[in-house]
Formats: sequence, structure tokens, C-alpha cells
Amino acid sequence: VYFGTFVHSLGQTELEVMSAAVGVDSEGTIVFVEKDAASADEAARKHGWSEYSVTAPLDQATSFFFPGFVDTHIHASQYPNVGLFGKTTLLDWLNTYTFPLEASFKDPAVARSTYSRVIARTLGHGTSTAAYYATVHVEGTSILADLALEAGQRAFIGRCCMDANSPDYYCDESLESAQTATRAVIDHVRKIDPTYEIISPILTPRFAISCSRDLMAWLGKLAAEENLPVQTHISENTLEIETTLKMHPYADSYAGVYDTYGLLTNRSILAHAVHLTDEERDLVAKRGCGVAHCPASNSALTSGETRVKWLLDAGVKVGLGTDVSGGYTPSILHTARQALLVSRHLAMKGEEKHKLSIDEVLYLSSLGGAEVCGLDNKVGNFLVGKKWDAQLIALDGKQSPVDIFDWERGNHENLVAKWLFNGDDRNLTKFWVNGRLVAGTEFS
Ligand code: GUN
Ligand code: FE
Repeated sequence: VYFGTFVHSLGQTELEVMSAAVGVDSEGTIVFVEKDAASADEAARKHGWSEYSVTAPLDQATSFFFPGFVDTHIHASQYPNVGLFGKTTLLDWLNTYTFPLEASFKDPAVARSTYSRVIARTLGHGTSTAAYYATVHVEGTSILADLALEAGQRAFIGRCCMDANSPDYYCDESLESAQTATRAVIDHVRKIDPTYEIISPILTPRFAISCSRDLMAWLGKLAAEENLPVQTHISENTLEIETTLKMHPYADSYAGVYDTYGLLTNRSILAHAVHLTDEERDLVAKRGCGVAHCPASNSALTSGETRVKWLLDAGVKVGLGTDVSGGYTPSILHTARQALLVSRHLAMKGEEKHKLSIDEVLYLSSLGGAEVCGLDNKVGNFLVGKKWDAQLIALDGKQSPVDIFDWERGNHENLVAKWLFNGDDRNLTKFWVNGRLVAGTEFS
């Protein structure tokens, strides 16, 4: 039984702050939420529980539980490059920084040491679910799946498909080899987690530029046949868009290229979506795709400012992505802060309606991300029937870097704002995924 203050999203603009006792069974499923319970014991008694333990923060007035973060777009293999991008933009950044690093994951030892650090780091920042891109390599990508399962992080594992316009030293050698490698990773994930309870494969055409038409068509067919999720990049940078449209003259838009091959589904995660046209946005909404909004990356690589409100207003699902290492931080809390600031830059250009609130960016970080990943029946907030993916945040001033000032004690709305703007991984004292304690400053 978890007892204290719970902060979670019920919808895009509804951030609920409740005092409650939450009962979680041995499978990690929330079985009761008793609002305003006088004590954990009272709530347990009411539900006929006799054997249980109680977890409550030491100082209720400066602590709260928040759902685990969902990172809808992160390149695990690019973590060694965080902070390195110089003055590049997307396409020269890929060639200068990214492909050489990803090529080094041919060595399984590189994969193992990097991926174990990435998982420890993202768990330390409260990421309970991550949609990972790995590299083209089967063994390295399978290692990422093994390590996430072992550490207890929900993960979508994507082997990058890239059989066209890629460097000779880093690519799929042929359509057939790309298919075989993609199959091999799916088989591996099915072997270690047969029901995809924690780890799921995700089909990952890197982006339209790096995939042949045959490969995209095969992936679209596979997604439909096996009901698999898909992730890719879309409309991130103007030169990328021009190049894509030149390569695919039959398509009327970038989104139209993916749609031709059945890659826009209600299980598709489209990263960036900075420069979509109105028609593309409506198509993406109609197909039920989700967008991974990556504000830190879009600012760092000067890609542009994604109009999140404009997407949400059309019914497009939106979550947050760190996009390590286009993005320089593995933290979704930091990314939420960037999402709020980028929305204000859009507002400063004259359109007030673009401004996102604290409640909205925290929705994107949790429930919104869960919707994008098709996991909103399972995670994203604290409702009965969902899994206990939860962060215990402490702003007590001793273990935390946030000076809350005495007069703020017990004002949880203000504590949440202070956490969003000044908090970091030092505020995460305990972190559970699927009911299992996996990280936090008090985890050892
Ligand atoms: N487009 C194709 N590959 C990538 C990548 O690795 N990162 C980003 N941000 N965009 C891409
Ligand atoms: Fe990316």
C-alpha cells in the first residue's frame, strides 16, 4: 500500500492532485485507490488485506508520487554523443557524428557497456517506458532487449532498417539481409518475453531517405500481419523533406510516402513532425498515429518548433521524446521543460494558442506518451487496473536540489511547478516499474 499525495494526468489539461492510499498486488497491478484515506491501514482493512507493507514518504508535505515517464523516442546507441552536435543540422550531423558511432556497435562489447549505462541513466531519471532505436546490428540490438528486461524497464526495441543512401560502412547490405536481421531481433524478443509484457519489438525504418521502397513495403506488410508497432522520423528538417520528396516523386507529401507502404497505423510513432502541412497532420490523425515531440533535439539541431497544440487540436496523440543524441539530455523532466519553453517561443511569434501549460507538458510526459505507445490501458496514471509504474519525488531540500522555501510546504501545485523547472534525478528517491523497485536515490 502506497500512501501520500499522488499527482497524475486524467487528460490533456487535467492534472489531479490527490491524497490517497493505493493498493498494488503482487503482480504489480493497482487494485484500489482510496482517496482521502485516513491511513494506509484503514484502506487495507477496507479491502480485506491482512498481509501487506506500507510505503509512505518521510515528509508528506514535500513529496508526491508521479507516474513513470514515457520516452517515446530515444536512440540508445547515440548516448555517448550527448552534447556533441556543434553547428550541424540533421543530415550533416548524421554523417559527422551519428553513423560512425552507431557503426561501432558491431562489437557486442560496445553494445553491452553502452546500453547498460543508458538504461541505468534513463531509469535514474524516471523513464519507465522507452521506445528505443538501437543500430542495424542483430546481436547488439538483442543485448539491449536483454538488458532492459533484466533492469526492469519497459522497452520497445527497434533494429534500425537502412538499406539505401547510407554509408557503405554502416547499412543493411541488401533487402534480404535487412529482412533476415529484422526477423532475428523479433524472434529474440519473443524468446525472452513471449507475451511482450515488458519488452516489445518495434519495426524501425530509420527514415524514408535510408529505406528502399521494397523494404518499406515489406515492413508495412509485416506491421499489419503481426500487429507490430512502427517507429520512424518524419518532417524534421527542411533539407530532409526536400530530399525525401525528390526521391519519391509519386507521393504528394512526406507522410504520403509512409502511407503508400502502410507505415501509418494506430501503432506508429512518428518522431519530430516539425514541418507537417495541414493535410499531412489530418492524414496522421486519421490513421491514428502518435507523434514523439522532441523539443531539445529540435532546438539543438535547429530543426524547428513543433506545433504541439495544433497536433493535439486535430486529435493527434502526442508524447515526449528525448531523441538522444539529437537531444542532449536523457531526462524526460528536462524535455517537458523544453516543451513548455518551445511552446512559448511559438507564442512569442504571435500565436498565444500555442502556449502549453505545466499540466499539459506533464500530461505529454506520462499519459500522452503512454497513448502514443499504445500502453494507455496499462500505464500513464494511477487508475485501478493499471500497472504500478511510479516515481516517488522528494523536494525536502536535503536530498533535493530544489529550495522550496518553508512557506511552500504542503502546496503540491507549487511543488510540482518547482520540480518541473528546477528538479532533476536527485529528487527521484524511489522508482518502481511494474511493481518492482528499479531505481532512485534510495535504491541499492
Ligand atoms: N533521422 C534519421 N536518423 C535520425 C537520427 O538518428 N536522429 C534524428 N534526430 N533524426 C534522424
Ligand atoms: Fe531520432
